[in-house]
Amino acid sequence: DLPDRVRIYEVGARDGLQNEKGAVPTEVKAEFIRRLADAGLTTIEATSFVHPKWVPQLADAEELFPRVRDLPGTELPVLVPNQRGLDRALALGADRIAVFASATESFAKANLNRTVDESLAVFEPVVRQAKDAGARVRGYVSMCFGDPWEGAVPPHQVARVCTALRNMGCDELSLGDTIGVATPGHVRGLLNLLDEEGVPTDEIGVHFHDTYGQALANTYAALEHGVTTVDASAGGLGGCPYARSATGNLATEDLVWMLHGLGIETGVDLDRLTATSVWMAAHLDRPSPSRTVRALSHK
Ligand code: HMG
Ligand code: MG
Repeated sequence: DLPDRVRIYEVGARDGLQNEKGAVPTEVKAEFIRRLADAGLTTIEATSFVHPKWVPQLADAEELFPRVRDLPGTELPVLVPNQRGLDRALALGADRIAVFASATESFAKANLNRTVDESLAVFEPVVRQAKDAGARVRGYVSMCFGDPWEGAVPPHQVARVCTALRNMGCDELSLGDTIGVATPGHVRGLLNLLDEEGVPTDEIGVHFHDTYGQALANTYAALEHGVTTVDASAGGLGGCPYARSATGNLATEDLVWMLHGLGIETGVDLDRLTATSVWMAAHLDRPSPSRTVRALSHK
């Protein structure tokens, strides 16, 4: 059975803009987030408190976050890689925190300069302090299906990291197909294994990049399994600077088109959202890769 309602976890302002070549002005980012909220999105990942040299695109987190943090009815998660990142986020009043782990050693090294276990050891006190401060914490797991250096990723390797993140207190997980190589059978296989490992489906979100055009099919497989949190990025912005061959996320418009077609509620106004992506595309000086954005904006 498909769910009646899906919670869309919008990542365009973070996963999308972290991968842009040019720096997007802080006020444009703030306006982007306001427009996303105005289109009915209620969970909007705002930025990352990572090292500014590692992700210069998001180096303005301190300037951006205060401009949007009081948006009514909107949750604004932020990424933190370590203690320093958490301190920066909590100092600004962030109350939705995301740590990001990897299922593979290669990507842990490339993205966090740590082994998988070293990065989990860094997250442990970070998650505890975030929880003590009253925040909700998401634990991302990258490279859940395939890795550009290591190839196919064994599901038990993913399950181990998921369990470690849950044990340290993460309220929710997000299964990342960072390079977009999964197909629906892989998704079903991993979700079945996580069932066996005792990970509750209502604590699982899915995060599909659309490199091979499989993100929507993979999402459908996850919905059939009972997943109700789906990550997507407005206009299909996105990628990851530390994983070659990662392209944009599943476009939020493509997701909303499918969900509404299935009679599943999202709370999103698709016309307003499309207008927002068209507006952002003009700022980035290139068209949105989303098929739905293109179709609706050329009507
Ligand atoms: P490092 O070089 O090992 O850092 O990088 P360090 O711990 O050795 O510290 C070195 C210096 O950096 C110190 O300064 C720290 O204070 C400073 P010094 O004492 O030398 O003057 N520093 C910081 N400054 C500001 N903010 C911080 C911070 N941390 C340390 N948070 C580090 C380790 C984790 C910092 C680095 O690797 C990093 O920032 N990585 C972030 C990479 C990233 O953001 N990747 C993209 C997000 S993940 C993603 O996109 C995947 C996802 O979408 C899911 C999917 O698709 O799979 C989530
Ligand atoms: Mg991502």
